[in-house]
Amino acid sequence: MTTLLRALRADITTLAVDAIVNAANSSLLGGGGVDGAIHHAAGRDLLRECQGLSGCATGDAKLTKGYQLQAGCIIHAVGPVWHGGDRGEPELLASCYRRAIEIAAANALRTLAFPSISTGIYGYPIEQAAELAVATVQATTGTLGGIEEVIFCCFSSGDLRIYEQLLAALYADPADVISPR
Ligand code: AR6
Repeated sequence: MTTLLRALRADITTLAVDAIVNAANSSLLGGGGVDGAIHHAAGRDLLRECQGLSGCATGDAKLTKGYQLQAGCIIHAVGPVWHGGDRGEPELLASCYRRAIEIAAANALRTLAFPSISTGIYGYPIEQAAELAVATVQATTGTLGGIEEVIFCCFSSGDLRIYEQLLAALYADPADVISPR
């Protein structure tokens, strides 16, 4: 089974998927941006569960329940702060996407939505981050199997255009086209 990858412009807190991914910080105790929106929408019980997780390393991810969200679970991933690109940022960002998918697969979660991790407050350039996100999600879901759909949830129309172009190029790849008999 191949995983369907698609891009959507939405508030990620409204999506009814098995798990949404949070762009968290290493404390896992909330913050601004999408992290603040997720904690606000999920309610105080999310913070209580996060307090028991002892934080999370950059490039890694941890699972919680979704509480008042439509989504059943939240996978909190900690992206890197952008320092110019030569401090391991690409490896750490790719690791976030990979770890989130590994956790989803290990917990039989089949539909996932990612925000554009690290590209807000953490300053990672959107074009580079989106390219890495799409390539890493495609490679990881292809290896692990079991994930039906991954949504790249964009907050701005500019971000959505970038993801749509990357996905159009991905699905236009002749390797993905089944030839007629
Ligand atoms: N739905 C979808 N995407 C959103 C939403 C939303 N409701 N709100 C913001 N975005 P950011 P980071 C987009 O800054 O760069 C927090 O304080 C936003 O437009 O949320 O990884 C954490 O606690 C951008 O495209 O995350 C950390 O300290 C993307 O989400 C730090 O920010 C990510 O932007 C993490 O910074």
